[in-house]
Amino acid sequence: MDNREGSRRPYHSVSKAFKLVVVVLLFIITLVRLLLLVYFPETDIVSDKVLLFILLFISLYLWIQELRDRYYLQRLHEELKTAHEQLKQAEIDTIASLIKTEEEKDVNTRGHSERVTKIALAIAEEMGLDKKTKDTLSRGGILHDIGKIGIKDAVLHKIEKLTEEEWELIKSHPQKAIDILEPLKFLAIERNMILNHHERYDGSGYPAGRKGNEICREALILAVADAFDAMNSSRAYRQALPREKIISELKNARNTQLSAEIVDIFLKLLEKRPELWEK
Ligand SMILES: [Fe+2]
Repeated sequence: MDNREGSRRPYHSVSKAFKLVVVVLLFIITLVRLLLLVYFPETDIVSDKVLLFILLFISLYLWIQELRDRYYLQRLHEELKTAHEQLKQAEIDTIASLIKTEEEKDVNTRGHSERVTKIALAIAEEMGLDKKTKDTLSRGGILHDIGKIGIKDAVLHKIEKLTEEEWELIKSHPQKAIDILEPLKFLAIERNMILNHHERYDGSGYPAGRKGNEICREALILAVADAFDAMNSSRAYRQALPREKIISELKNARNTQLSAEIVDIFLKLLEKRPELWEK
């Protein structure tokens, strides 16, 4: 815990005690003045001018104290918010390091999540999406294949054609990701995005066969970035596809595998930012 907290408590206690003294003094002065007015109306022991001056001073003092307290509480609130965000980020980073370790083991997937995240964020930027959505894409992009850590290496890194049973195992990775991320309640949108990242626009994807707008926008963006990186990266069993082939494959996937709207945005973006081809 921040040791500055210790220095704030005494200030707050002194401030509260002083306020109490001021209020009690104010009460006593007012009471005395009232009694004098009632029982000795002709006397002028304490003039109204002096009283008004004291009242003005006290009001001003209380007002300044109130502002200081508000400022202090606001600063405390912001510090707590920052600490909370840092804690959340630390949890995400811990999990992200697991997927990075998993990807590093295999030449086929090395750096995949980071590249997918970079592409997804570039698409979001091009679409003019807000910071909250971009943050969601950033976290979801890094964690999207976290479910693969629950799949045997022999299946995950197999070069030969997968059996039906092995393919079913691979297809379970979005649900496995949801199970892994379940304790992180603040990742609700990210979990939905990850669950849907292998759904296809025409409903032929997995795990639920959702289609079109039933799939959240973040997952549609992630799917385009994921497909692009898969084609643009070399695998143990094949080289990266030629650029012309990748472009034609993306065009063919419009409204079948991928959202046509997002594919079109991405194709324009590739022309504007050729560095996105770099791995
Ligand atoms: Fe995946």
